[in-house]
Amino acid sequence: MSKAQSDPLGLPREAWASRLGLILAMAGNAIGLGNFLRFPTQAARNGGGAFMIPYFVALLLLGIPLMWMEWAIGRYGGSHHGHGSTPGMFQVLARKRWVKYLGVLGLFNPMVVLIYYTYVESWTMAYSFFSATGKYFGITTRQDMGNFLSSFQGFARSPHFPGGIETAYVFMLLTLAINVWILYRGISGGIERLAKIAMPLLFLFAIALAVRVLTLGTPDPARPDWSVASGLGYLWNPDPSRLSDSGVWLAAAGQIFFTLSLGMGSIHCYASYLKRNDDLALTGLTTAATNEFAEVILGGIIAIPVAVAFFGIVETQSIATAGSFDLGFMSMPIIFQKIPLGHFFGTLWFALLFFAGITSSVAMGQPVMAFLQEEFGLTRRKAAMILAVAVFLLIQPVVLYQQFLGEMDFWGGTFALAVFALVEVILFAWVFGMDRAWEEITRGADIRVPRAFYYIIRYVTPLYLILILGFWTVQQAIPKLRMDGVSADARLQVIAARLMLVVIMAGLLLLIGLAWRRRERPGRAP
Ligand code: ALA
Repeated sequence: MSKAQSDPLGLPREAWASRLGLILAMAGNAIGLGNFLRFPTQAARNGGGAFMIPYFVALLLLGIPLMWMEWAIGRYGGSHHGHGSTPGMFQVLARKRWVKYLGVLGLFNPMVVLIYYTYVESWTMAYSFFSATGKYFGITTRQDMGNFLSSFQGFARSPHFPGGIETAYVFMLLTLAINVWILYRGISGGIERLAKIAMPLLFLFAIALAVRVLTLGTPDPARPDWSVASGLGYLWNPDPSRLSDSGVWLAAAGQIFFTLSLGMGSIHCYASYLKRNDDLALTGLTTAATNEFAEVILGGIIAIPVAVAFFGIVETQSIATAGSFDLGFMSMPIIFQKIPLGHFFGTLWFALLFFAGITSSVAMGQPVMAFLQEEFGLTRRKAAMILAVAVFLLIQPVVLYQQFLGEMDFWGGTFALAVFALVEVILFAWVFGMDRAWEEITRGADIRVPRAFYYIIRYVTPLYLILILGFWTVQQAIPKLRMDGVSADARLQVIAARLMLVVIMAGLLLLIGLAWRRRERPGRAP
């Protein structure tokens, strides 16, 4: 790596090598664990087909408009002003010095998600090996498989992991090292190259698994209603009574944010490596469409229908209520033991999750990389080292204590995404100005963006976000803050997790202040 590539002061920024590479990298950014684990559990526990109505409403009124906005803000900040992270992007949008501090969420959110996501990603790599070697073969109940997972994580004892947490720790280190290595290799040499290999494989694996599931039919003739068809029916038949439940609308909006990687700063960052007149309307829409295909079609076909075929509807409901980890790491391994070539399909499932995960986690690391390189003038090597040390330190409590993951996922991976989205839509559509915003979105466009989106972006998206945030605060954030339902044992951990989030936020704010002080020293470029 030459110093020139990473020097922000006047020298060319990195760029995508090809449009296909950009599309694959952006699709990789969006398609993640959310598509194959989070979506099926959310859909199943929020009314199946009824969930899909608020889901598509959120896609149209939040997902697609925000996708275009984030691409446009990213391209504007990057190609006009050399900023790959949102503090700099927001400042140039609003032309006010203090606004850079609002951009902290574009560092905080991806950093927080990156920390716990890397850990979950490392489980998928480990389970891919466990499937290939048959380590969990012979464990036949969900409860015992849960025990296997807990002992792998070091939270329970079992003969499968006599060293306790050791195995999980090694896979965590390996996963972190691979992520950092890719980020160190840069945009075209690392991220784009990864996407060109991982994305075709991901689709190949997902299609193979989907075909396998669809051809399973009714595995046990004595139980004709335990079938893939009734699984699909369970997922897609709407229960209209659920539509009046605001919790379902919140879950759908939350899923749209998470799955499309919106409100994270990572779409902005990838888009900042576009050129001034590069199309973003069609490519942004392609990213969203590819993600939705992977989520609704492939993600919808695999896990839940197969769970219904082997566990029946009642137990699948309890699996979905228990959450993504139950579905992915407890139920699926049991199913693989019941189908021919189970070792092979198990390996494929977890490898699919790993590829989906890693193409997203590097996207969450890149905003911090860009921030360190551009705002502090660090080389890519130094930025990658700092990121590695920071994630390594902050991941420790997530590995050691059970409450951290959920707490970080709610505040950093759910609530803060919507807060960030509201901030950016106000800045872009109202402060920067809707006419200029529209010009940014449509410049160089390879499609005609329907004029209706001018009004959606200006009025509907912000109002929708205010509504969602209002409900979210009252229904979930306040009870969560009060720790309703948290056991006395868990409270200390929850408080510690929150303290860590506050420290991360304060640290990032401090870094933004320092970076700007440094930039504004006499003789520096502004
Ligand atoms: N968009 C990524 C996912 O779905 C974060 O997992």
